Amino acid sequence: MMKIAILGAMPEEITPLLEILKVYEKHDYANNSYYTANYKNHELILAYSKIGKVNSTLSACVMIEKFKAEALLFTGVAGAFNPSLKIGDLLCATKLCQYDLDITAFGHPLGFVPGNEIFIKTDERLNSLALEVAKELGIKLHTGIIATGDEFICDEAKKEKIRSIFKADACEMEGASVALVCEALKVPCFILRAMSDEAGEKAEFDFDEFVVNSAKISANFVLKMCEKL
Ligand code: ADE
Repeated sequence: MMKIAILGAMPEEITPLLEILKVYEKHDYANNSYYTANYKNHELILAYSKIGKVNSTLSACVMIEKFKAEALLFTGVAGAFNPSLKIGDLLCATKLCQYDLDITAFGHPLGFVPGNEIFIKTDERLNSLALEVAKELGIKLHTGIIATGDEFICDEAKKEKIRSIFKADACEMEGASVALVCEALKVPCFILRAMSDEAGEKAEFDFDEFVVNSAKISANFVLKMCEKL
């Protein structure tokens, strides 16, 4: 028995799980809603943080400090940078960075501030469990680097810049902040994303078309992982 947090950023990323769970309790706290439910011997705490690094930082802290989550699984969608990632494909982040954390004016590399590392690692045990789950389900799970920042990327030049600096496979707006909270509070962290777009010109149209389906692919996968924890 474990208390497992399942965090997303948008309603599309979490409501499919609430529909599957059916029975849950809603707790309003810190300008957001948190949902508790039982699933396969575990207690779950679910929430969508709202978009961005600050909102996701707040929700991750609340889930750990107030609701006492012992592991955190993030589920959601991302923009693909690596051309081998197609819309609907799943990517598990081995490490993440904040591409918009910029004190390069002082000679530091992009993404670096004193006292932190550029990259924040996720939990190796959870990542290898995910690979086992993918194998059992007969689906391909990609692993790689995610770049996080407070911007929806829909521009080839921005995409290529972030991709080349950080060797990032995908971009999104919450993963690195959640991973940073989990690392600081010593809670194992897993960050999963299904591709909703390719972060280039017109990514906003792909996003609108594919967000619901890709979000469900990711959500279903993290629920499967709970069965193995
Ligand atoms: N989430 C899904 N697609 C994204 C993109 N292109 N940029 C930032 N976050 C995203």
